[in-house]
Amino acid sequence: PSLSEVLNLHDFEAIARQVMGEKAWAYYSSAADDEITIRENHAAYHRIWFRPRVLRNVTEVDFSTTLLGHKSSMPIYITATALGKLGHPDGELNLTRAAAKNGVIQMIPTLASCSFDELVDNAKPGQVQFLQLYVNKERSITEKFVRHAEERGIKGLFITVDAPQLGRREKDMRQKFEAEEPDEMDKNKSSVDRTQGAARAISSFIDPGLCWDDMKWFKNITKMPLILKGVQCWEDALEAYDHGLAGVVLSNHGGRQLDFARSGIEILVEVVDKLKERRGLSFPNEKFQLFVDGGVRRATDVVKAVALGATAVGIGRPFLYAFSAYGEDGVNKALQILRDEFEMNMRLIGAPTLKDITRDMVDASSIHQH
Ligand code: FNR
Repeated sequence: PSLSEVLNLHDFEAIARQVMGEKAWAYYSSAADDEITIRENHAAYHRIWFRPRVLRNVTEVDFSTTLLGHKSSMPIYITATALGKLGHPDGELNLTRAAAKNGVIQMIPTLASCSFDELVDNAKPGQVQFLQLYVNKERSITEKFVRHAEERGIKGLFITVDAPQLGRREKDMRQKFEAEEPDEMDKNKSSVDRTQGAARAISSFIDPGLCWDDMKWFKNITKMPLILKGVQCWEDALEAYDHGLAGVVLSNHGGRQLDFARSGIEILVEVVDKLKERRGLSFPNEKFQLFVDGGVRRATDVVKAVALGATAVGIGRPFLYAFSAYGEDGVNKALQILRDEFEMNMRLIGAPTLKDITRDMVDASSIHQH
């Protein structure tokens, strides 16, 4: 189908499934075990309903914002997803270019198919990029990478904490991994196991020994804001705040790690309540920012997260499917769709700016009922 026939983010998935290779489809679409959490990620948004306001002059709507102090045209960002070249020869460059055109921020994955420097070199002057970090058992490798990232102007370090071991993604494990390898693997070649899918082949260097004490070490080696990606309960969000980190991503890794992990949007509700109760914080908060990812497919999902206190939400698979089917044009289209949906939803909910999207505009009283 031509791009003009694509009406929403779900369409990209259906089209990508038709046109993508088996291996890429298996790696991108798979999730852990019985894939209960990946389904829940999207379903959780269906338990939140709107309480719109009327007569609020919504002639002009503005949904631009800042993430960690950096401008974004929408309260979304392109989250880190590994192995972009499985889906398209230009890999993550599709995301770098579309991010620039649409004024949104890309989070570069440690395990990008393109090299880190290629993705930074191809950014437009002034384009803000974040980095997702998998911490290597060999800390000197991680230290070198982090220092290099800071020198290259990366504005936020998102340390993935929900993957001390990769989840079992059986769809992916049934495929043998022979695709192009990401840069980061060069240092870890000896331990690559090619018999069990892409995810397992590339992840053996990740350190399961990572712990809270390591946060001091990170603070010593970098001035970049540190954010934990993959926090799943208020206790750890509070811990992150008390460790002086810049924020957390409430996420279950797109359902790819622990099956029966709760959705990010559900976790957001308890985190906001408890951090208010325990530390007097209110959200959104400049000093400690809450991000959410997993299952976001509509601007209404984003509006719900913002109403509940998130600074922004991460979106993963829809962009992978978009570039797998249409290259960069697909990603531009996906972002355009989100922008159009946003504009409409802001008007219909009665909010001319993001500040006007308040907690009382959503009914999340059923969020914990599964
Ligand atoms: C991911 N994700 C991920 N996260 C991370 O911290 N490091 C990584 O290398 C990857 N790789 C990756 C590959 C693929 C194919 C997917 C689908 C996801 C998780 C990602 O950042 C994010 O948490 C989820 O993708 C969000 O869910 P949705 O938007 O895909 O539903």
